Amino acid sequence: MKRLDQVLAADGVPAELELVINDVIVACKDIAFKLRQGELAGILGATEDENVQGETQKMLDVISNDLLKDILIDNPYVKAIGSEEEDYTVASTTPGKYLVTFDPLDGSSNIDVNLSVGTIFSILEAPEDDRAADDQSIFLQNGRKQVAAGYVLYGPSALLVMSTGNGVNIFTLDTTVGEFILTKSGVQIPEDTAEFAINMSNQRFWEPEMKQYIDDCLQGEEGPLGKRYNMRWVASMVAEVHRILMRGGIFMYPYDNRDPSKAGKLRLMYEGNPMSMLVEQAGGASSTGRMDIMDVAPQGIHDRVPVVLGSKNEVAKVVAYHAK
Ligand code: AHG
Ligand code: MN
Ligand code: MN
Repeated sequence: MKRLDQVLAADGVPAELELVINDVIVACKDIAFKLRQGELAGILGATEDENVQGETQKMLDVISNDLLKDILIDNPYVKAIGSEEEDYTVASTTPGKYLVTFDPLDGSSNIDVNLSVGTIFSILEAPEDDRAADDQSIFLQNGRKQVAAGYVLYGPSALLVMSTGNGVNIFTLDTTVGEFILTKSGVQIPEDTAEFAINMSNQRFWEPEMKQYIDDCLQGEEGPLGKRYNMRWVASMVAEVHRILMRGGIFMYPYDNRDPSKAGKLRLMYEGNPMSMLVEQAGGASSTGRMDIMDVAPQGIHDRVPVVLGSKNEVAKVVAYHAK
């Protein structure tokens, strides 16, 4: 039985980074506890506010954001944080070396129906120059620069899935002692799959390349892809990525022209990049359809990105459709 701190020490993770990861985990345990209590804790429902992306904030979006923000901005090794639920990045009270971005509650439409949600986080090192902690540009580094990335999936069990660049480990929250215990290491995504996840209701808004790929999937063994596909859609990226890490699959949230000014629905810095690091660390692939997500240069903390990730050979097929 290995605890998270033992695994991080064995992986040679610097003590300062471990202390940052620990604070993320403390907040996530609190979120897990509140989710378990559900309606009894008075945490369900919507607020009257919208976030900077024009989405209605759920009570739990705000509660989870505050838990993560409050603990991290007082961590002496954190320089600043960026969150889906914060318009601007927030400087730490005593700026340190690391930058943390997070999606405090992913899949929020699932909260009120008691289905899986998660927290996603990504950690970067602050550039070694004299830019201030409240300067958003310190965050604008591509995903390859991440020193740690992970998510906590609040499902039947609470699971922490994390990478510090040395493969992917899975920890299960032992609620009897309040600790994450290592339950799987060296996670590998099967290279091939016949299971896709996409919100089909947006089909008419997709680009022709994506339409063609899904049309071909739907033709099954009679079509050009020569196999019968299954489909899943949980509406929580954390849950979809977790399924893919466990049994393979391909997840897509492509560009669509519902609002041509947006490059996609999902956000690069706290959804696309951390999930791409996990997927690549587990032997899978992650692309916009035209380039690796982790090579995309961010222009702003809330940038959006088209996402195609999962089993390596299937992602390569989608990339080939886009190259035609
Ligand atoms: P969030 O709840 O953080 O805004 O993210 C929701 C995301 C993602 O988790 C999921 O894959 C997708 O939005 C669901 O979108 P649809 O509403 O189109 O199903
Ligand atoms: Mn999200
Ligand atoms: Mn969210």
